[in-house]
Amino acid sequence: MTKLSNYPTKDPVLVTCGLPYASGQMHIGHLRTYVPADVFVRLLKKMQTDVVFICGSDTHGTPVLTTAEAEGLTPKETYEKYNKHYLETFPRLNIDFDNYATTDDPENHARTIQIVKELQKNGYIYAKELETPYCETCGRSQPDRFVRGTCPYCGADARGDECDQGCGRYIEPGLIIDPRCVVCGNPTIPVTRTHYFLKLSAFEDFLKEYLEQVDGTKNAKNYALGWVKEGLKDWCITRDLDWGVKFPGAEDLVLYVWVDAPIGYMSSTEIWAKKIGKPKEWEKYWKPGKGRLVHYIGQDIVYHHCIFWPSMLKGSGYNLPFAIVASGMVKVEGHKFSRSRGYLVWILEDYLDRGLDPDYLRYYMASYTSQTKDLDFSWETYADKVNNELVATIGNFLYRGIHFTHKHFKVVPKGTLDESLRKEIESSIATIISAVNEYELKKAADEILRLASIGNNYFQSQEPWRLIKEDKAKAGDVLFNALALAKALAIFIEPFMPVVAEKVWSQLGFEPATIHDATLEDALVPLEVGAKLGKPKPVISKIEDDQLEDLKRIIKDRVKAADAKQKGKVKIDLAPIKETISFDDFQKIDLRAGKILKCEKVEGKDRLLKIEVDIGTEKRTMVTGLGHLYKTEELEGLTALFLVNLEPKKIGGIESHGMILAIERADKEGAWVPVKLDKIPPGSKAA
Ligand code: MSP
Ligand code: ZN
Repeated sequence: MTKLSNYPTKDPVLVTCGLPYASGQMHIGHLRTYVPADVFVRLLKKMQTDVVFICGSDTHGTPVLTTAEAEGLTPKETYEKYNKHYLETFPRLNIDFDNYATTDDPENHARTIQIVKELQKNGYIYAKELETPYCETCGRSQPDRFVRGTCPYCGADARGDECDQGCGRYIEPGLIIDPRCVVCGNPTIPVTRTHYFLKLSAFEDFLKEYLEQVDGTKNAKNYALGWVKEGLKDWCITRDLDWGVKFPGAEDLVLYVWVDAPIGYMSSTEIWAKKIGKPKEWEKYWKPGKGRLVHYIGQDIVYHHCIFWPSMLKGSGYNLPFAIVASGMVKVEGHKFSRSRGYLVWILEDYLDRGLDPDYLRYYMASYTSQTKDLDFSWETYADKVNNELVATIGNFLYRGIHFTHKHFKVVPKGTLDESLRKEIESSIATIISAVNEYELKKAADEILRLASIGNNYFQSQEPWRLIKEDKAKAGDVLFNALALAKALAIFIEPFMPVVAEKVWSQLGFEPATIHDATLEDALVPLEVGAKLGKPKPVISKIEDDQLEDLKRIIKDRVKAADAKQKGKVKIDLAPIKETISFDDFQKIDLRAGKILKCEKVEGKDRLLKIEVDIGTEKRTMVTGLGHLYKTEELEGLTALFLVNLEPKKIGGIESHGMILAIERADKEGAWVPVKLDKIPPGSKAA
């Protein structure tokens, strides 16, 4: 591989992160992309490279539509809700984008249409009849995540457009085997209509050449080259949906979400350029020239970024990505990341809202394993890294040096930088730069730990606590050197832990925010003799054992709850079908919609819930056995179907006047969720 050129560079760099679907909350898996990218951007700034950091919410496609249906919101309400969540959460993790847009912004609609028209003009798009899944029960076309079936490549159970449980491959519409509708569970039927395709096969030679030289991580490039060598299928870029960017030429179709999503990188840059008052500035990165595009993504979306995206850019005359950096996937406590099985960590609920320090998590996510390896998150390793690496190695050295100097001198004592320490700092800078060039942040983090250990050894072997009594000037010289190392460390840890670094910076006597502008070279300049030090305080605190136990319990409880839910589901699924009843018998049944006004637990019975139901004609008290599946607040306010002429029965000591029916269905993850009949007034009779 010929590397185009190295970092630092004089060329402008634009770093992007895979745009999160605005259809769910931020979780630990997301951080495997966002944290390393933010660290990388901060490192480039320290290398005095001109860099812009761009992201936004992915608002189209079936991920947003399925959430909208499950939550009873419109697609726009859905993405606005989650977009707000991301906008508020990123800064709390010190992830600082220069711009965060959405793919539903007018700029993105306009840019997408411009690019698609250019591709049409250049002869890369053609129409073809295609059979895609249609659900007769739901009465609509069900593309992508609206169906599940069997992966045509590996046989695993898969989403319509992605083998999410097996080989991870992208699946073209119409190829999934035995598709069934995820809304109603029924098999879909194939319907034929005209769709539009991007002639990917025309880009094979270009891609082979392009991917050979693309920078970034090997996994991205090698997977992609493998796919190109197998031969590429043309890509269906339209979907039979209302939500999305309308396909120019056939307005009853929208573009597949993976067309307008990466274009979001470009339109978010355009919005940024307008924001800074230089509307043409985006062209510096996106028009062919010196701009360097670096995409940080997870391994699950390599195909989209290495095959679709460069072809779209090439076919419409834009700049090509300089580097694709693909991370390994995040697992939780040794298990595949799974919402339905409870193996996940929510960023707000499980971390930030518990008052845990965002910088510790940043450090963990960026330093634990090589970028391309899977990262197995566990609270045990989290605590171990915080306590041994951050507290005992880095924090310990910083506190000892600053505290001891402050106590005996108050200011930076006189001294000269020891030649061997200077060489160590120089070698750290070189290692950090090579880590950036390899997109391997663990290498930089390991180097920082090495330098902190050198600091600890230096302090220990020079014994300033002895010298201070025997030879104060000599002690001063040692502390001058310790502070020089502390300054270098503060600069090196800033990309990983920006707020911790601010604290160290202020103890070293600087204005805290100026740490963000300090360069790697500044690490070689010792503190000014006589400069006043700030008040020393430990900057990193230990994770205590009881705290660790609490954290571990979150996942344990969630997995247990998921298990119970799963068992409940199996029971419902497998109940044998009863004897046939006559239509006359059926007509005796009085089914009505009812709204649950109040829901409370029945004392001492964990499966029983007492509900107050408005059935239109009156309010009734009923008892249900759903306590192990639902929290009371999940049922309150819900409208469901009730059997209202069942003889009253005492359940758990309370007389129940009716029975709740069929309040569940499978959601996109296969879990059971309540069906909302919000629009039906209480008392309506079932047909
Ligand atoms: N919307 C698409 C990306 C469009 S980019 C033009 C998407 N969204 S996502 O919300 O599912 O993921 C956002 C980013 O987080 C992606 O880079 C994805 O690879 C990454 N990750 C999400 N879950 C992950 C793990 N469990 N592990 C590692 N990274 C993962 O994909
Ligand atoms: Zn597969």
